[in-house]
Amino acid sequence: MKISKRIYTLLALTVFVALGIAFTKPDDGYKNLKILNKNISHEELGKVMHGFNDALGVKCDFCHAPSKTPGEHLDFASDEKGEKKIAREMMKMTNKINKKFFHGKTKLGDKDAVMAVVCATCHHGSPHPEFEKEEQQQKQ
Ligand code: HEC
Ligand code: HEC
Repeated sequence: MKISKRIYTLLALTVFVALGIAFTKPDDGYKNLKILNKNISHEELGKVMHGFNDALGVKCDFCHAPSKTPGEHLDFASDEKGEKKIAREMMKMTNKINKKFFHGKTKLGDKDAVMAVVCATCHHGSPHPEFEKEEQQQKQ
């Protein structure tokens, strides 16, 4: 009697712990992160992506390909669009500039990241920084 009660308690505990793990695991995670931390929170990823939109003056579909799944707008994990690949290179470059020349301790996507140089430093709300330069030359 005593033993079976103990086993029951143990089972109940195991189920409780297993459920707890299942619920605290962050969804099914992101599928295709090569620069950002793979365990980045939804909140931090959202901040980085909205930062890209603002810095380049674009919407999410500038870098993300349309989804083939009916009812889904964009396929965020897909690498089909060249702009996404360029953006990865830009992320690497931005992280490197901060680390190497500004002795930065944080990188894009870190919680409370402090970055001396960000996408907007060059892009100023345009996907093509050099177009801005041409506009300035035309004004002169
Ligand atoms: C300037 C290009 C650019 C823009 C604009 C952009 N993204 Fe991204 N996004 C990327 C890149 C690059 C990655 C992959 C980062 C990596 O490899 O670490 C990514 C990754 C993601 C992922 C992770 C997908 C996965 O499962 O791997 C999500 C979700 C996402 N973006 C959502 C958005 C949303 C929502 C917006 C608009 C608010 C947005 N992105 C705007 C470039 C962009
Ligand atoms: C040091 C300056 C600088 C920084 C910082 C920078 N970029 Fe760029 N980026 C450029 C220049 C210059 C070009 C234009 C290259 C060209 O058109 O040949 C460019 C082009 C791009 C393009 C291609 C646009 C297109 O239409 O083909 C994307 C996407 C991009 N940058 C994303 C980013 C993102 C995202 C960040 C931040 C993680 C970033 N850039 C940070 C200078 C910068």
